[in-house]
Formats: sequence, structure tokens, C-alpha cells
Amino acid sequence: MQSIRNLFRAAWSSDAKLDGKTVVITGANTGIGKETAIDLAKRGARVIIACRDMEKAEAAVKEIMEKSASSEVVSMKLDLSNSQSIREFAEVINRDESKLNILINNAGVMVCPYGKTADGFEMQIGVNHLGHFLLTYLLIDLLKRSAPARIVTVSSMAHAWGSINLEDLNSEKSYSKSKAYAQSKLANVLFTRSLAKRLEGTGVTAYSLHPGVVQTDLWRHLSAPEQFFMKVARPFTKNSLQGAQTTIYCAVEPSLDRESGGYYSDCAPASCSSAGRDDDLAEKLWDLSCRMLSVTWE
Ligand SMILES: NC(=O)c1ccc[n+]([C@@H]2O[C@H](COP(=O)([O-])OP(=O)(O)OC[C@H]3O[C@@H](n4cnc5c(N)ncnc54)[C@H](OP(=O)(O)O)[C@@H]3O)[C@@H](O)[C@H]2O)c1
Repeated sequence: MQSIRNLFRAAWSSDAKLDGKTVVITGANTGIGKETAIDLAKRGARVIIACRDMEKAEAAVKEIMEKSASSEVVSMKLDLSNSQSIREFAEVINRDESKLNILINNAGVMVCPYGKTADGFEMQIGVNHLGHFLLTYLLIDLLKRSAPARIVTVSSMAHAWGSINLEDLNSEKSYSKSKAYAQSKLANVLFTRSLAKRLEGTGVTAYSLHPGVVQTDLWRHLSAPEQFFMKVARPFTKNSLQGAQTTIYCAVEPSLDRESGGYYSDCAPASCSSAGRDDDLAEKLWDLSCRMLSVTWE
């Protein structure tokens, strides 16, 4: 469907440059994040890849530098399943970086067995939503001072199958790994919507997106039959470079300067689910996220 649609639309490309700009990308040691880092480094940005495994991160920095021919690529430790790690990361960024022009909330886990973050949150909502919520909260003043700035959050079309369980966000009463993933990706869409409202007039804009169905390590927790199915479906999926294009579009496309809060797919505005447009739900999730993280963010 997607590829047929693309036959009738010119591929997106832009020669937008990012000289003098600073970018943070979470989970950029592999997959979509790494391809995004290569592209933004080629455009001249200083790229900070924020990763939980520093060995993988260092190998990725080397590859990103080689492929982008840029020396402005660094890695920093960030474990989104631990608020202490997020706070330490943000402290160093706020201390050492004079600006932050693009924050890309890319890292994610999908359909993992039930597990908890260091703070006791269910792993998928904890890493995919709450971790990025806290990270954005801690970097928001720097982003505002660096305006024009953008916050890009990688969601998924799986958000459309999700609902937000405000009574049991951590799935403690019952856990479905696919529902928990969908909930976390819907949270990404709702977070972006609420964030955009709060950022009106600041010069900081926010976007969420579906990257496509992309062959990456994300599928590591799928069952053997599901892995087999994904192999069979390979011709209909994207590789990581193709999967990074909508993130890059949201990060650099000049016409998006005038947009904020929307959802994108295939380098174009897209429709999110009705739950993804529910402002009341978005506000309830915002308040709950603040309470869970013990932060005040009006
Ligand atoms: N692939 C798809 O089909 C697809 C579809 C829709 C949406 N997405 C979204 O796209 C984004 C990127 O995923 P991908 O497909 O590129 O998957 P990927 O190759 O598995 O990359 C995910 C990245 O997130 C990192 N990560 C996981 N847990 C983390 C934590 N606690 N702290 C810091 N980093 C952490 C991983 O680090 P490690 O390498 O150390 O594990 C990895 O760098 C995700 O948000 C995903 O939900 C992907």
C-alpha cells in the first residue's frame, strides 16, 4: 500500500544545512537513529548520540563519522529506563552545550517481556514515553534558548491500536506486551500534541511520526513465528535508511517551521487515531506523567 502510494509521489529530499546547530538523538547506535545521525551530521550539525551501551555507542560514532565525513559526532551515556541516568545526561548537556536545536526522541523497546525500569515503571511506557518526557522536561529551557528548535518524537502506526490506561499505566493488573507497546506509542503522539500547545510562541516546535515498518533490531522480542513472518514480509518493509527519512523530514523540512503538534508518515502529514487527537486524554496523561516523575510542568 505504502509503496504503491509512493509511486505517485516524488520522494522527499532537502538540501537544508545544519551548520552550527546541535542535535541530540536518543538510541542512535543502531537502526533508524543511526541513519538519522549520519544524515544530520552530513548536513553539518554537531550530533550527540545518547545511548545506554557505550561500547555500541563508540562503534556507532566511528561509523557515523566515516559515513558523514564529519568529526562533530560524540556519544554520551543515557539509559532511559533510569531517571537518575536521564538527570545525569541532562545535567551534562545543560552544563556543556551552549545550544540544542533539535532533540530527537528516537530510542524504543517493543513487545518485551514484562519488566520494570529502575523507577518501577513498566518497561515500554517507561522507556518510550516517561523517559523521553523527563528528558524533554530537563532540556526544555536550553531548547527554548536555542530557538528556532524542534522536538521530534518517533512514534508508530501501532499507536492506533492503543489506549491509555490512566488507572494502570504500568500494566500491573494485567500485561499485554503488544498493548503496552501501542499505549507507549499513543503516549508519544499525545505528548507531542500537549507539548506543542505549551510551546506556542517560543519558537520550539514538536512533531511525532511513524517511520514505516523498518527492518531493525526493534523486532528482537518477537516470537519465532512472528520473526519468520517479518522475514517473508521483507520486500514490503523499509531498510533503516528509508525508515529514517520521516524523522529527518520532521527535523529539517523548512515548511514545518509553521507547524507544531502534528503526526507524520512517509515524509508528509498523516492522520493519527481519534485517541491521538483527544486533547482531554492528552492533558490527563500529561498530569499523570508529571506525578509519576515527580516534576511540575504546567
Ligand atoms: N522498526 C520499526 O518497524 C518501527 C516501526 C514503528 C516505530 N518504530 C520506532 O522507531 C524507533 C527506533 O527504533 P528502531 O526500529 O531503530 O529500533 P532499534 O534498532 O532496536 O533501535 C532502538 C534504539 O533504542 C535504544 N534503547 C532501547 N532501550 C533504551 C534505553 N533504556 N535507554 C536508551 N536507549 C535505549 C536501543 O539501544 P540498544 O542497541 O542498546 O538496545 C537502540 O539504540 C523506536 O522508537 C520504535 O518504536 C520502529
